[in-house]
Amino acid sequence: MIVTRENYLNAFDGQRCLITGGLGFIGANLAWRLVELGADVILVDSLIPTYGGNLFNIQGLENKLRVNIADVRDENSMNYLVRKQDYIFNLAGQISHLDSMNDPYTDMEINCRSQLSILEACRKNNAGVKIVYAGTRQIYGNPDYLPVDEKHLVRPTDVNGINKAAGERYHLVYATAYGMRTSSLRLTNCYGPRQWMRDNRLTSQGWLLRLVLDDETAQIYGDGKQLRDLNYVDDVVDAFLRVAAFEEANGQFFNLGAQPYSLVEQVEKMIELAGTGCYELVPWPENKQKISIGDYYGDYRKIKAMLGWQPTIGIEEGLRRTIAYYRQYKEYYW
Ligand SMILES: NC(=O)c1ccc[n+]([C@@H]2O[C@H](COP(=O)([O-])OP(=O)(O)OC[C@H]3O[C@@H](n4cnc5c(N)ncnc54)[C@H](O)[C@@H]3O)[C@@H](O)[C@H]2O)c1
Repeated sequence: MIVTRENYLNAFDGQRCLITGGLGFIGANLAWRLVELGADVILVDSLIPTYGGNLFNIQGLENKLRVNIADVRDENSMNYLVRKQDYIFNLAGQISHLDSMNDPYTDMEINCRSQLSILEACRKNNAGVKIVYAGTRQIYGNPDYLPVDEKHLVRPTDVNGINKAAGERYHLVYATAYGMRTSSLRLTNCYGPRQWMRDNRLTSQGWLLRLVLDDETAQIYGDGKQLRDLNYVDDVVDAFLRVAAFEEANGQFFNLGAQPYSLVEQVEKMIELAGTGCYELVPWPENKQKISIGDYYGDYRKIKAMLGWQPTIGIEEGLRRTIAYYRQYKEYYW
């Protein structure tokens, strides 16, 4: 089949797709979409209790996919699991920036070393598989200019950014050195249903929304003018599908991005749409300020030009859907 911008979603019908980190926020949303598109889906997730995995994320899907509770650090499991897959969406990760500073070796094991061993597992057992890696804008650090394009220097401000940069580079090296079909998406802040909301370790926007929904005071660090671009999770899932389907994405990395808003603007929008909550500005905690990246928003012209991706769900609509989801299913998230 010749893949085009009109038919790329058909590429997954009957295809074997493995999602590492598939019980987490983005992985589970991707799983729902792939099942809808007719794919044969297997999720690999360690379900470590303080990480983002949540079995409720796939409630209703249990009979339509398979779940393998395994850790990507376990090379034997990965050697076996990658066999015969057509697509691997590689999303498993330790995603807390602060945890990466407090326990840098665990972050390195998961976000760096395991990425290399997943690629080795593929090279030895399934070298033709398409692999899409979940990279991050965190690798750019404190930007020299805005919007940040893919030519911007990679200069992370925290251990997580270093390990994610290495994890991405391994994927790209396996494309150039071995001709493998790998790509990376440098995600910016993603939001939507199925995100970890139990505490503020894994997401700041999710945590602020939770406080607003609970009619509490959301605390914003500093002057609240930090700019961030937010992608609704359905748009993020669409980017994964495009990168997977199009052969011209092989060996490439792409920024995502959206219209930027300051943190205060984002929280004001949450309060307006939820009809609850308020906010206050508080001084930065020192440990967070030292690794903060200031303003960020991404230049996504490359993926738009090559693959036709652009954000389609604006902040109002995205927040509306997110608020409705957590109002209905809050008990499963906090
Ligand atoms: N959410 C964002 O805004 C964002 C931004 C940039 C990059 N990313 C990247 O996207 C990916 C997915 O992020 P998310 O927001 O869905 O996070 P998440 O924490 O909800 O999902 C990650 C999943 O990986 C699983 N996992 C962690 N360590 C594992 C291990 N050793 N073995 C197997 N599974 C393991 C977790 O249990 C969890 O289900 C991550 O790699 C993250 O770095 C996310």
